[in-house]
Amino acid sequence: MSPPDLASEREITARAVNSFAHTPDARLRFLLQKLVGHLHQFAAEVELSEAEWSKAIQFLTATGQKCDDVVRQEFILLSDVLGLSMLVDAIEHRNGVQATESTVFGPFYIAGMPDREYGENMALIPGSASLITGSVRDPDGNPLPGATLDVWQTAENGQYSGQDVTQPHGNLRGRYRADQHGRYAIRSVVPVSYPIPTDGPVGTLLQASDRHPWRPAHLHFMLDAPGHRRLVTHVFNDDDPYIDSDAVFGVKDSLRVAYQPCSSAHPLAGQFDIGMDFHHAHFDFVLEGRA
Ligand code: BEZ
Ligand code: FE
Repeated sequence: MSPPDLASEREITARAVNSFAHTPDARLRFLLQKLVGHLHQFAAEVELSEAEWSKAIQFLTATGQKCDDVVRQEFILLSDVLGLSMLVDAIEHRNGVQATESTVFGPFYIAGMPDREYGENMALIPGSASLITGSVRDPDGNPLPGATLDVWQTAENGQYSGQDVTQPHGNLRGRYRADQHGRYAIRSVVPVSYPIPTDGPVGTLLQASDRHPWRPAHLHFMLDAPGHRRLVTHVFNDDDPYIDSDAVFGVKDSLRVAYQPCSSAHPLAGQFDIGMDFHHAHFDFVLEGRA
């Protein structure tokens, strides 16, 4: 085999990078030129073969074809399992302000879910009862009354409503509001660990890499309050077996919480009309002011 003609390979890269030199938007120009430069450097470094290039094209094509308009977003899933979503999250929150930490958005949020009362049960199918309570405050400790908490979690079968069409509309989803003291209360079922979808190219990728698809049990939150930065995060069950090996790298220690077993005689059971043994967790949110 003749030695590689490095000069002509570099020439190909330089030409491709320079072809974006007149992109009017400066940020877009920067992004495109860096992207092309890094892509070419990757291909050269790993000595990418035509067969491998073709396989990658097929993989990305299948990833796009797996997406739908409702709940399936295979590209977000791909970004998540590559750790890219959490890297972007870390870059976005570099300033280290005293606010609750964020984590991945995930592909299963659905907008426009029912408004729910303080303490309302969002579990429309009975299960292992849970109650999560806490507050929403600013970094100085002032309560944020009326803050909205958009919440979603899987059912005990590990599937989200929308993803699992047999669940009633709005099951384990809803939009709560903090009360006049900035407090919130959500009745639900105890979150369970679940595998991310593996019936598409991302599942094939995980299998080929001998990686498991499991996420530790969690409750998703998206919080908004006027004058404050939106917070997208989860609260994770502290004792979950996958807490240290989340398939999408989303766990942060500050987001771990213990669900405590409580009997039906506990005062909170009376206050929230629970009527059975349940698990209680407490988590306080802090929202960063908008710059
Ligand atoms: C989720 O927690 O809903 C999720 C996040 C990333 C990938 C798949 C699911
Ligand atoms: Fe989730």
